[in-house]
Amino acid sequence: MLLRDVEYGDVDAYVRMRCDPAMMVELGGPLPREGMESKVRRDVQRAAAGTDWTKMIVPDEAEPGLVAGTVTLWPHNTDAERMSEIGWMVLPEFQGRGLAKQGVRLLLELARDDGRWGLIHAFPATQNAPSNGICRSLGFRFLGEQDVPFAGRALRTNHWALDPRTDMT
Ligand SMILES: CC(C)(COP(=O)(O)OP(=O)(O)OC[C@H]1O[C@@H](n2cnc3c(N)ncnc32)[C@H](O)[C@@H]1OP(=O)(O)O)[C@@H](O)C(=O)NCCC(=O)NCCS
Repeated sequence: MLLRDVEYGDVDAYVRMRCDPAMMVELGGPLPREGMESKVRRDVQRAAAGTDWTKMIVPDEAEPGLVAGTVTLWPHNTDAERMSEIGWMVLPEFQGRGLAKQGVRLLLELARDDGRWGLIHAFPATQNAPSNGICRSLGFRFLGEQDVPFAGRALRTNHWALDPRTDMT
């Protein structure tokens, strides 16, 4: 497994992840197809600028064109503060193989080595068993439930946080 930066050619993978009702059931429902090209373009530009890290999960190094999912780390602005947030998605045919957990661990290691991300927050839906399991087993601390706006909707989430310099297990 490896992580690589998002590319313009990843639109299809974005559509399969973000416009699919089953994939988005814990994230407030599918997003409109027509926004995906601009979303990929924005993520590629931010990855090139180094402000956001959007990494595609490639399960087999011998097949770099095959994408299983994505892990993203970005600076997140709330009313009160600026903070770092991490999120992840894995396509149905690749789920249950540990790829999300490996991808999240790898990105946290990169963040630790980079040093500028500080405390990293995650907000999986309260019902999302695998995502909450990932947080728990990688060393995130549970801070409580929180309503979070996502793509114009309110999601009931578990708020987790981890300092990659000290908390990773
Ligand atoms: C959530 C998601 C990323 C998990 O991806 P995955 O690659 O299948 O997850 P992993 O195989 O790495 O499993 C992670 C952990 O969850 C556990 N798990 C996996 N599926 C599970 C399930 N259905 N119920 C309970 N636990 C589950 C695994 O055992 C593992 O825990 P462990 O390390 O203690 O054994 C994937 O299902 C997904 O993309 N769902 C739709 C989008 C989404 O909800 N994204 C997350 C937003 S926070």
